[in-house]
Amino acid sequence: MEGLTGLSIFFIALCYGAFVLFLAAFLAKVYGYAVTPSPLKIPTTPAPATGLGVAGEVLFFTSLFKGNKWTWLGGYIFHLSLAAVLLRHLRYFLDPVPLPVALMTYPGLEPGVWAGVVMIGALGYLFIRRLWVDRVKYISLFADYFVLALIGLIGFTGALMKFFIRTDVEAVKEFTLGLATLKPANIPPDPMFITHLLLALVLMVYFPFSKLMHLGGVFFSPTRTQVDDCRETRHVNPWARK
Ligand code: HEM
Repeated sequence: MEGLTGLSIFFIALCYGAFVLFLAAFLAKVYGYAVTPSPLKIPTTPAPATGLGVAGEVLFFTSLFKGNKWTWLGGYIFHLSLAAVLLRHLRYFLDPVPLPVALMTYPGLEPGVWAGVVMIGALGYLFIRRLWVDRVKYISLFADYFVLALIGLIGFTGALMKFFIRTDVEAVKEFTLGLATLKPANIPPDPMFITHLLLALVLMVYFPFSKLMHLGGVFFSPTRTQVDDCRETRHVNPWARK
């Protein structure tokens, strides 16, 4: 605690609090999914007919691809670019920086940065689609717009720091590495960085209570992960076997 400013103590407490809440609520939700019985065979069309197809469903969103190519394209590009952005961000929390993370900041190319730009574009596209396509607009709730806008704003403030209002990345790393190693350091008092961080913390706290839990839920959803083979194989309710 020695040498820490009041602002730093506030944000350090906020970061740890948000992280613990996120982890506890995320694990509790996943535990809930894992112990929920799924006695019936209920894959929804178009559903994969083989185990490999189920893996494809999770990795490539294949049923969405069959259902709507434009939504699939926007969604898939968004998820891929978000993964690259998050991979690049690991450099703030790890020292030494592992190779896959370093590759995201490869000098001259910086694929992680361009992934950020693509991510913001994909989010804009998905947002406009909700407003533009009548039948999608009809089923869209405030929460659907909120997550797109929140992640978009996080990306936007990040891009502002990268391209226009430079932040002291060394000071950021000292702060984030301090958090990761439980040796807290002062937060750089840069309003843009603090805004970016605050928005990321809001996302973290909101995540386990939102539709974003599909990240954990997709592995447990019987409609998506069951093989559609009820004509070939008789499904026996797991607890009827006992
Ligand atoms: C879901 C969470 C987050 C998303 C989607 C996100 C997104 C982005 C994007 C798109 C950029 C611009 C491209 C780039 O420089 O990589 C960026 C920059 C940045 N982000 Fe994040 N960010 C997130 C969380 C965080 C967190 C938790 C921190 C640190 C505590 C952080 C620190 C930074 C910094 C310092 C930059 C500027 C990099 C530079 O100037 O080189 N971000 N972020």
